[in-house]
Amino acid sequence: MRKNIVAGNWKMNTTLTEGLALAKELKAALQGKDIKCDVVLGTPFTHLASVASELKSTKIGVSAQNCANKESGAYTGEISVAMIASTGAQYVILGHSERRAYYGETNAILKEKVVLALSQGLKPIFCIGEVLEEREAGKHFSVVEAQLSEALFDLSSADFSKLVIAYEPVWAIGTGKTASSDQAQEIHAHIRKTLAAKYGEAVAQNTSILYGGSCNASNAKELFANADVDGGLIGGAALAVDKFLPIIEAF
Ligand code: PGA
Repeated sequence: MRKNIVAGNWKMNTTLTEGLALAKELKAALQGKDIKCDVVLGTPFTHLASVASELKSTKIGVSAQNCANKESGAYTGEISVAMIASTGAQYVILGHSERRAYYGETNAILKEKVVLALSQGLKPIFCIGEVLEEREAGKHFSVVEAQLSEALFDLSSADFSKLVIAYEPVWAIGTGKTASSDQAQEIHAHIRKTLAAKYGEAVAQNTSILYGGSCNASNAKELFANADVDGGLIGGAALAVDKFLPIIEAF
């Protein structure tokens, strides 16, 4: 059975001291609680080792937000998957719309990153989603299909099974505009159908598909109640425990 996951994406926020304090506070808040989902913190690269060490004896996972599309070598400023794995992190967010829009990450580049991440045993949280004009033109289904097939569909079914998918409509990210519960369910079901057509029903049913985009304490319960929404990728609301905890407890 697929897992329910609530993953925080801190983006380029918090200093090391602040990030570590946030991780400690969340750890304390979850202590002794019966949590019904996996929890992951996507921290800046600089925080990974400290946060992973702080969370070592807990069930809270740690994720990078990006990785290089090269294995190692003369790529000044880049961070390899081996470096990420060596910090103790278990996940890497790939294909976030901000990476696609501001850093020119194409499906072809992301395909390389996914293969590298898997080679180090990292679990990619792979983001897909349409921009507003595509949604308004009714192209959202074909946009996510193309993102999946161009970046991921050369993977074997065994490798694909290691991925988490995050559907994040770009128009909902950081805007306060959330996809309605029906819109989320509709496209998540479509994504699952697309996965089933490629990898079969069993793989599709076992893949966690998270929703992201202005998910918060007030809408998480309704979004997560949908049959095909298996959790959330949370930006703004992951930066404070009093906002993040109710989302985790929405399961
Ligand atoms: P948001 O960001 O929750 O602040 O909208 C989500 C994301 O970008 O992953």
